[in-house]
Amino acid sequence: MEYEKGLKKVADSQSEWMKCVQYEDINGNGRLFGGRLMEWMDEVAGIAALRHSGCQVTTVAVDNLKFKKGAFINDVVVIIARITYVGRTSMEVRVDVFFEERETGHRFMINRAYFTEVCIDEKGKPIPVPYGIEPVTEVEKAEYDGALKRIEIRKIRRAEGY
Ligand SMILES: CC(C)(COP(=O)(O)OP(=O)(O)OC[C@H]1O[C@@H](n2cnc3c(N)ncnc32)[C@H](O)[C@@H]1OP(=O)(O)O)[C@@H](O)C(=O)NCCC(=O)NCCS
Repeated sequence: MEYEKGLKKVADSQSEWMKCVQYEDINGNGRLFGGRLMEWMDEVAGIAALRHSGCQVTTVAVDNLKFKKGAFINDVVVIIARITYVGRTSMEVRVDVFFEERETGHRFMINRAYFTEVCIDEKGKPIPVPYGIEPVTEVEKAEYDGALKRIEIRKIRRAEGY
């Protein structure tokens, strides 16, 4: 597929992954272990970033991670990652996690976070992301505008050493 003006759409790299929660994923409270969920989220964020860029990527930061609700044994968990913004060498990826109700197929959000993924060369040094992002829907445009604000906040936090 050829991309005009070096832009790709959010849908080109949107990545969805599903998992049925097993005994080995459960913590002492009978809930999905938070660290396990973060591992899955990191993996899907990385897949979206590498599908967008075609580069090797690594995670440099995770922001606004929120555990809104728990998940339990046998629950079907759905993880969706979308590119929201592309900088020079980095991409912001929004990751939403849902519990999918068996009977109805309705999805309820249980977790959300913004990952920053960086394109790297074979020595692990940041390299430019080859494609920009073209937000199309109103939601994608709102996410893009939100990313501009989040990037400013991150710059302030980095400057202040958080
Ligand atoms: C990712 C890494 C190569 C970046 O190196 P670096 O020296 O920080 O590079 P830079 O300062 O040029 O930053 C690269 C990009 O990341 C962004 N970035 C760096 N630190 C960030 C942070 N804390 N939050 C958000 N973005 C950040 C920069 O803004 C820049 O983006 P841009 O080019 O689009 O503007 C380096 O930090 C690293 O190797 N980290 C470890 C990664 C890792 O092992 N992850 C876990 C396994 S996946």
